[in-house]
Amino acid sequence: MKILAIESSCDETAAAVVEDGRNILSNIVASQVEEHKLYGGVVPEIASRRHAEAIVGVVDEAIKAAGCTLDNIDAVAVTYAPGLIGALLVGVNFAKGFALATNKPLIPVHHLRSHIASNYISHKELKPPFLCLVVSGGHSHIVEVRDYTDMKVIGRTRDDAAGEAFDKAARAMGIPYPGGVELDKIAEGGDDSAYPMPRPKVDGSPYDFSFSGLKTAVINLIHNKAQKGEQINVPDVCASYRKAVVGCLADNFLLVAEDLGYTTLVIAGGVSANSLLRRELQSRCQGKYDLYMPEKSLCGDNGAMVGAQAYYEYLAGHLAKSDLNAVATLPISENCF
Ligand code: KG4
Ligand code: ZN
Repeated sequence: MKILAIESSCDETAAAVVEDGRNILSNIVASQVEEHKLYGGVVPEIASRRHAEAIVGVVDEAIKAAGCTLDNIDAVAVTYAPGLIGALLVGVNFAKGFALATNKPLIPVHHLRSHIASNYISHKELKPPFLCLVVSGGHSHIVEVRDYTDMKVIGRTRDDAAGEAFDKAARAMGIPYPGGVELDKIAEGGDDSAYPMPRPKVDGSPYDFSFSGLKTAVINLIHNKAQKGEQINVPDVCASYRKAVVGCLADNFLLVAEDLGYTTLVIAGGVSANSLLRRELQSRCQGKYDLYMPEKSLCGDNGAMVGAQAYYEYLAGHLAKSDLNAVATLPISENCF
């Protein structure tokens, strides 16, 4: 089954054709990052307008690059939640129009479920059940993936998401948006014990994360040094901060795995590209857990992951009608169509 999949939840206009949930036939991503960089973060209004401009061309390119015509496409899938509402609406309305005009099924896909599904492309043998750490710019969840479309959140951030914590700390050091990526690179050349950082825990909820205190600690450090006219060593701050954020993520993830008895562990989302998170989990999982990570090119937002999850939503009978709407916030365990 060939699914045309569309993603427009944030600042990438993306479309892909994916076969049977596992094989990428094409995967086109038009990034708006250069424009949002000017403002230090995603400007929702600009994102929506750029999606509207790009979507027809991106979809056309995805169909052609897959060697398909409209006749070869069996269904259209789209990210409908969660995300920036104006941005989501562009993809949702396009997909609805496409489904109506071609008389093909319309498959609504939850953005975080699709991040998890990027692993089905990278690892053909991977099947639920497993435990997944989903870490993106807007979410940090530990999710029990009981089946392809049956999920339960076990731990979550109480405040900032891990990606947001990286981006905001990077911004305080003058590193351009999206700072998480660059901070990761700079940290490779730093001493991670130069600036001791707190490891915040959430009282009474050992599986939950809290990153706002950690983010404030690094921002205060930068400001205090600046007030005293002292220089910070940027690579050392990046390395120390990254170690603390990754430590919190890995500690809680492995604690849940141990407590719930999961031996198959998976990571997903933009932050799953973080070099230290990948190394640290690889070394701590060795001999104890089977660890799966998406290839780096599939960690960020893309259409292929939407096509992968869409296949399993389709098999579960999750189809939308022509009144499908975009939803800004929606738990990963719920459907809203
Ligand atoms: O999943 P994603 O592409 O978009 C959302 O759904 O939010 O995640 C984007 C987030 C950004 O905060 C970005 O800075 C972060 O992922 N990110 C990273 C790395 N690559 C992307 N954070 C840390 N290290 C990285 N290598
Ligand atoms: Zn994402």
